[in-house]
Amino acid sequence: MARNQKDYYYDLAQKEGYRSRASYKLKQIQHHSNIINRGNTIVDLGAAPGGWLQVAKELSGGRVFGVDLQKIEEIPRVTTIKGDITADSTIEKILEFAGKGGADVVLCDAAPNLTGNWALDHARGIELNRAAFECAKKILKPKGTFVVKVFQGDMFKDFFDDVTSEFVHVRAYTPQASRSTSAEIYIIAKKFLTAPIRKGQIYAAEIKELGASGDGIAYIDDFVLFVKETEIGDIVKIKIKDVKPNFGFAEVVEKLDALPENPKYDNPIQQRTQIPLSADYEKEENPPRGNVSRDNYRPPNKE
Ligand SMILES: C[S@@+](CC[C@H](N)C(=O)[O-])C[C@H]1O[C@@H](n2cnc3c(N)ncnc32)[C@H](O)[C@@H]1O
Repeated sequence: MARNQKDYYYDLAQKEGYRSRASYKLKQIQHHSNIINRGNTIVDLGAAPGGWLQVAKELSGGRVFGVDLQKIEEIPRVTTIKGDITADSTIEKILEFAGKGGADVVLCDAAPNLTGNWALDHARGIELNRAAFECAKKILKPKGTFVVKVFQGDMFKDFFDDVTSEFVHVRAYTPQASRSTSAEIYIIAKKFLTAPIRKGQIYAAEIKELGASGDGIAYIDDFVLFVKETEIGDIVKIKIKDVKPNFGFAEVVEKLDALPENPKYDNPIQQRTQIPLSADYEKEENPPRGNVSRDNYRPPNKE
């Protein structure tokens, strides 16, 4: 299966003029989650030899930028640079490209040089993922999209949760074009949040108005929060349940007599999400086809 799969996408890439079989992973991600729209500005981190850049350019027709440790051969109307995404000097160049307008989509298919040592490869992969995540947070437009390849392992869930707290919709997805022996999975995060509020936080607030559905409305730094079962004038301790780009939902923890001086309560333990992994994967429409674990892990071939 793995060999056929490799040959199939490798041959297809040759036939259709793509620089890597990885192009089909991006096409499948696009088909699954519609991440790129016409006119989008796209930044691709870890982009060599350029298969994703080709697909990104075709899909968006807008400004596309790629960076890699390796030189990327020229692609018409795509800007590329050589650089390390963990280096500040590279991030500065990316910021320069994104400019004030920012990017609609940040992609990261970067992979460290794999050694075959599961723990080491996973840790080095997560380091790249976090560099990409930090870059995405600096350049994404509000409601922007971030797609990042992660090698599964112990640190996956923490990383997934951190991404989840910055976007409205986040899911893990393995495209068919990924090799069945690969531990890779893609995190697809949509609707970058720029609001000051995050799920799980606790605030004190006064209910100022009632919404059309009868829920109370409170404001935190001008951000609108709908709070069920409250009346105008109620002073309540609330827990943020869900955050959308322009408003959020909260539930009452307790009623208060007066607003405290600092309305934000320390709440280091944010609400953690359930992610579909291993056994839970049956629920996904595209489950990973191999049972990749520490014991049978082999580094994938170069794409
Ligand atoms: C799987 S390839 C990307 C394939 C690409 N998506 C395509 O379709 O052609 C992974 C790339 O990540 C790059 N990479 C690894 N570490 C990097 C880093 N620190 N900074 C920039 N690129 C990096 C590697 O040089 C490699 O070209």
